[in-house]
Amino acid sequence: MLLRTLSVLLLHLSSLYLRLGTASASCSCSSVLVPVHVDVLVPKDPNDVFGGLKSNETSLRRVNTTYDIYGVFCRPNAGNEDVLQLLAHGFSYTSQYWSPPIEEFRNYSYTAFSCERGLPSLAVDLLAAGLSSRPANASDVQYPTNAAVLSQLARHLKTAPILPGVRPFQKIIGIGHSLGSALFNFGAIVDGVQSPFDALVLTSILIFGPNDPPPGSGTSAVPIAARDADPLRWGALDPAYVTIDDRTPFYPADPTAYSPRMFLFDGFTKDVGALSLAVQVASSSIPAANYTGAVVKVVGAEDQVVCAADRCVDVEALTEAEQVVWPAAKSFEVLVLQGSGHDLNLDFRAGAAFETIFGLVAKFAEK
Ligand SMILES: *[C@@H]1O[C@H](CO)[C@@H](O)[C@H](O)[C@H]1NC(C)=O
Ligand SMILES: *[C@@H]1O[C@H](CO)[C@@H](O)[C@H](O)[C@H]1NC(C)=O
Ligand SMILES: *[C@@H]1O[C@H](CO)[C@@H](O)[C@H](O)[C@H]1NC(C)=O
Ligand SMILES: *[C@@H]1O[C@H](CO)[C@@H](O)[C@H](O)[C@H]1NC(C)=O
Ligand SMILES: *[C@@H]1O[C@H](CO)[C@@H](O)[C@H](O)[C@H]1NC(C)=O
Repeated sequence: MLLRTLSVLLLHLSSLYLRLGTASASCSCSSVLVPVHVDVLVPKDPNDVFGGLKSNETSLRRVNTTYDIYGVFCRPNAGNEDVLQLLAHGFSYTSQYWSPPIEEFRNYSYTAFSCERGLPSLAVDLLAAGLSSRPANASDVQYPTNAAVLSQLARHLKTAPILPGVRPFQKIIGIGHSLGSALFNFGAIVDGVQSPFDALVLTSILIFGPNDPPPGSGTSAVPIAARDADPLRWGALDPAYVTIDDRTPFYPADPTAYSPRMFLFDGFTKDVGALSLAVQVASSSIPAANYTGAVVKVVGAEDQVVCAADRCVDVEALTEAEQVVWPAAKSFEVLVLQGSGHDLNLDFRAGAAFETIFGLVAKFAEK
């Protein structure tokens, strides 16, 4: 146990070291910590599957506070300075999902991939994950809080420089993975035309209704109390902070489709999330009636978490089912990537996923 914790620390330190340095000759990366003020209503009952969207005042309470949000900002030394990709990771991951320090960042870093092609990005640690603030009480960390953190951060970066000498961004494209995508979706429902996101690329998530089995059910991706999973690291946490011990369902069922080194790294660097985040995904069944940006969903055909029961086989039917909650979007499409699992960025198909995601983003960046 001690050895395991030490290796987590070492991995974390070495990645910090690399993050603080220069990602490549053509890109510079820096760690940032941004204070983000949110003032939201959350359900008094964190098990409310709609995250309060269908609640009246008596079942809501106010969270009005400021959190420190950690992120890694990378920008090309020459490239587009007006468009920012805001990257939001999935449940029990951190910002490292977008740039895991495996194989010297060569094959698995979307941050490096997009930066080398001329677009800046900011990969954040969601509230309660990684190096961002972690409220003592997990019931403060619900969909409304987390989605507001992303929207408020984006608003801030459209008016104030992220670093001295960098102009505020004119366009921000939200790119999510799994939970991160569901949070952008929630923000689009709440913010409507006021959304600071000009377009959304939502990977590894589909609509889940209140009566559907939640994502990952039927797999071994079961949330367990973080303090039981790793008492040394998380022993003092509110038991409503959970993690996922078995990472297998995040990869294709075929074990030759991903690197065993990546799988080990994933296990060592897993993080925590509030249990409510796993249930409030049913908010994705509520239409984002007034969101007018472009929206794309990207899922892997081998995704064991959201594409179970052959859900992603008929792309036309899937698109029809998914587009109903985006009636005002400028455009909407669903792309299914053959061979990819839930963690599009972490298996051997990562390069193809990056081509697809970056292709979409480059198009949205221009329009
Ligand atoms: C508000 O919601 C609660 C819980 O769902 C319900 O019991 C109550 O009747 C509702 N109040 C009003 C005024 O609709
Ligand atoms: C929310 O917090 C801000 C800053 O702490 C404070 O100025 C404001 O009055 C608060 N709003 C309410 C309604 O409590
Ligand atoms: C990983 O990246 C290196 C260097 O860019 C490349 O030679 C190698 O083929 C890549 N491996 C995979 C599996 O894509
Ligand atoms: C967390 O906050 C909620 C709402 O304020 C409260 O009901 C609950 O008792 C708190 N839990 C802990 C462990 O403090
Ligand atoms: C969308 O905008 C219309 C017109 O402003 C408003 O009546 C409606 O409540 C909004 N819908 C949502 C879900 O915010």
